[in-house]
Amino acid sequence: MTTEITLENIGAPNVPYFTPIQDPPPGTPLSLIKRKITQSNGEITEFPPLFTPLKIRDTILPNRIVVSPMCTYSAQDGMLTDWHLVHLGQFALRGVGLIIIEATAVTAEGRISPNDSGLWKDEQIAPLKRIVDFVHSQGVKIGIQLAHAGRKASTATPYILSKGLLSPEKYGGWPNDVVGPSPIPWDENHAYPKELTVEQIYEIEEAYVAAAKRAEKAGFDIIELHFAHGYLAHEFFSPISNKRTDQYGGSFENRVRYGLETTKKVREVWSKDKPLFVRISATDWVDNGEGNSWEIKQSVKLSELLKDLGVDLIDVSSGGNTPEQKLHPMTAYQVSFAEEIKKNANINTGAVGLIRDPKLANNIVSSGYADLVFLARSFLLDGSWAIKAAEELGVLIRTPTQYHYAIEKFLIRDA
Ligand SMILES: Cc1cc2nc3c(=O)[nH]c(=O)nc-3n(C[C@H](O)[C@H](O)[C@H](O)COP(=O)(O)O)c2cc1C
Repeated sequence: MTTEITLENIGAPNVPYFTPIQDPPPGTPLSLIKRKITQSNGEITEFPPLFTPLKIRDTILPNRIVVSPMCTYSAQDGMLTDWHLVHLGQFALRGVGLIIIEATAVTAEGRISPNDSGLWKDEQIAPLKRIVDFVHSQGVKIGIQLAHAGRKASTATPYILSKGLLSPEKYGGWPNDVVGPSPIPWDENHAYPKELTVEQIYEIEEAYVAAAKRAEKAGFDIIELHFAHGYLAHEFFSPISNKRTDQYGGSFENRVRYGLETTKKVREVWSKDKPLFVRISATDWVDNGEGNSWEIKQSVKLSELLKDLGVDLIDVSSGGNTPEQKLHPMTAYQVSFAEEIKKNANINTGAVGLIRDPKLANNIVSSGYADLVFLARSFLLDGSWAIKAAEELGVLIRTPTQYHYAIEKFLIRDA
């Protein structure tokens, strides 16, 4: 008996145009490229850990490479445009494990700049859904980073004015509506924040809930809460920016209360089968005496509490809360924090920061320092970073079907 081979080019569902279904998804490891690439003890016989799938809840990522969230300051009234479709869509064709959309404000006042992405109203769902649907049509997973900039809101787009300069009303800013845990500006170039009342804190938490529900409607696979880089949650965490004397300030338990309440509420409305990530700054990089700034020890403790609330991964960054920080970025400089959190809080971590070399990225996963590797600038330099990393590590990964049949032969011929 002969099996009939279908010659039909089957289209992906849920998009109003034809694009071939991608099965398996791009980024999936297929085979080892048997060639020059050998280890000291002989030929590679297993997929390098960077190119092994990871299942979190019901979401399967084909490999460990994440396009880190990157603000592009290109939205109009919080809405993403064709520019974002092309910018983010490119990564869906390039073998990454996951794409996370840039910091997306849950309230208009919570934007970093007038051109930030937003999800504070229903009209913002459709432009995001268009991008999600395209990325899904390519078989790729996509997340969104939900954010509130707190006292770092209402700044000028950094490529127009140097980083962090206040955007006054005439340039679309809202300096009088900037809020924070305490009335302490980030520096003299930032707005003077108004201290949030307990009722306003509650309203921001509810804005996160509403944005999470909208993210569900847009079809996202993953939500990442942005609790890092000196934005609102980090401002609450750190004694440098939080001088409150009520239940949201003072002790560690009080300072993390806003972040934990927000997380709990989002987890309650976000699908049980979908992962929730949290990005934190592991340290303020300020040496002003134990307990006077945010430090790795507190980050470990916070990560344990986040885990108990159903957070699946801590994306470990650092800094951003004060101009006093003594931060000297160097290759993989934040990886040890991811390792410490993974080991001590027993939770999945993501490593980020100055990771360019594929072998280094692979070592981070193989050594158990982190489960995912987030890359930002490497992807701005080269959208094909993952495909090239696979080649360098001796793996043939799936690329979009339209490319794959051609690339496969090309790679093997080159071997
Ligand atoms: C253009 C640009 C925009 C960024 N925007 C965000 C953002 O929206 N949210 C965030 O958490 N980090 C943001 N970051 C930080 C990156 O996600 C990443 O943590 C940082 O760049 C270090 O990684 P890298 O060395 O691979 O670039 C941004 C970085 C860049 C370069």
